[in-house]
Amino acid sequence: MATINTVSQLNQAVNQKRDNTQLGKVVLVGAGPGDPDLLTVKALRLIQQADVIVYDRLVSNDIVALAPESTELVFVGKRAGHHCVPQEGINQILVEHALKGKLVVRLKGGDPFIFGRGGEELEALLPYQIPFEVVPGITAAAGCAAYAGIPLTHRDHAQSVQFITGHLKSEKEQIDWASLARSNHTLVFYMGLSQSGEIRRRLEANGMSPSTPVAIVERGTSKQQRVLPCSLQTLDIIAEHAQSPSLIIIGSVTQLTHKLSWFAPEKNIHDEYSEMRVAPIAKVAGL
Ligand SMILES: C[S@@+](CC[C@H](N)C(=O)[O-])C[C@H]1O[C@@H](n2cnc3c(N)ncnc32)[C@H](O)[C@@H]1O
Repeated sequence: MATINTVSQLNQAVNQKRDNTQLGKVVLVGAGPGDPDLLTVKALRLIQQADVIVYDRLVSNDIVALAPESTELVFVGKRAGHHCVPQEGINQILVEHALKGKLVVRLKGGDPFIFGRGGEELEALLPYQIPFEVVPGITAAAGCAAYAGIPLTHRDHAQSVQFITGHLKSEKEQIDWASLARSNHTLVFYMGLSQSGEIRRRLEANGMSPSTPVAIVERGTSKQQRVLPCSLQTLDIIAEHAQSPSLIIIGSVTQLTHKLSWFAPEKNIHDEYSEMRVAPIAKVAGL
């Protein structure tokens, strides 16, 4: 099939395809937070059956390596010095391959329907009547919390948990900060590192105690996982030492990491971190 550059060419291709053969299928598959052992059985089967896998930065190399050599791999994430493929471009890649009759696995970090634009990608298939399925994955909040020894709810600490986007530039006015700042509640911010100062200020302004325990989980469930415990007061200082992808977990459940931590990543971060922890605390204390 010739390259498709315009919507009308795409429509033409769809009609031709309907006249000739079967359309392919797109399966939106959650790859989980990083550890390949956290893939579902169905995700693994689809990775091994796909004609094409379209994946982004959050899908670990170990997971991509599970595909047979014959699978066409299409990377649509951001690489150093390059921009990621825009969402419309990703949609078009999915449509084009499905129109060629391929089984397309759209592999996404975590769960495709949690801050994953999975809904948008499926909506883009509707005009072409391309069949699709969705395979859920373990979302970062569940994976990181489990591997950091932080139960997101606990009868003595939190009766509810909320997942919030840290992409606050356009959405911060839509967030009900007063309801987030209540006690007995765990907050999990995705994509929050660069906004940690704003998160701290908004929560403190709405009555959350500066001493509220917090944990940042960096590259959760991977061999490079680091858990950085701190308090709301020191959140933005500690966040400067963390790298993406990281989750910010706020609430008294995060203290439990000190006794329930079980996962042993390659490096023992507690040794490395103990020095780092002293410095910011000293800074806050004005020392
Ligand atoms: C665009 S969202 C995608 C979330 C994904 N769909 C999920 O369900 O986990 C990306 C954000 O998820 C979080 N994240 C994903 N994987 C992570 C990991 N292994 N460790 C820590 N945070 C992670 C980070 O906050 C990252 O900025």
